[in-house]
Amino acid sequence: MKVVGISGSPRKDGNTEVLVRQALQPFYEKGWEVSEFFLSSKTINPCIGCETCIETGKCVIEGDDMEFLLREFEHCDALIIGTPVYYRNVTAQLKALFDRSFVFNNRKLLAGKLGGAIAVGRGEGGGQSLALSIIHNYYLSSGALCVPCEINGLSAKADKPGDIKMQENRLRQARVLGENILKYAELMKAKAD
Ligand SMILES: Cc1cc2nc3c(=O)[nH]c(=O)nc-3n(C[C@H](O)[C@H](O)[C@H](O)COP(=O)(O)O)c2cc1C
Repeated sequence: MKVVGISGSPRKDGNTEVLVRQALQPFYEKGWEVSEFFLSSKTINPCIGCETCIETGKCVIEGDDMEFLLREFEHCDALIIGTPVYYRNVTAQLKALFDRSFVFNNRKLLAGKLGGAIAVGRGEGGGQSLALSIIHNYYLSSGALCVPCEINGLSAKADKPGDIKMQENRLRQARVLGENILKYAELMKAKAD
């Protein structure tokens, strides 16, 4: 079984990447195939709104990492998407990924897959819950099922890169998110077999 961890931060080794990696740990331990798709080192250009994909099922934008990601989506059982909060929203990099998913929206490539969400902002109530809702809405629009952390998605307060590493409780909660997804994925698989 396979999980894809996505970080929407343009900042390498920032707080979001730390939390997404932490949430992926239980999957490594269970022997799942784990794919890290971190937008600090990938390029997804924004949708240009031509809507050609409605007719052809293909995007006219070529040469970036979206095609690779679509194949990852097709072959995965679960996803974890994390984002820094930017202006009470997800980052532009992550929003570009969401918009480019329009190419598969009618085919619901994420149908029945499980998704967890993580949002990190510097403020207490800095917009983390809005960013979590935006990720959860993406899952629901794509046919995926949302899995909670202890409650809702994982909301964290951190600023400078690596600040989050001092927060034992948030690191533990990121693991809980991963463990919850694993639990439900295995239950679903057992029912299907
Ligand atoms: C352009 C920009 C906008 C931001 N907007 C918010 C915001 O609305 N609310 C908030 O709490 N933090 C905001 N922040 C702070 C980041 O969310 C915070 O530094 C976070 O830890 C960055 O995550 P990263 O280390 O994974 O990149 C903003 C930062 C930047 C660069």
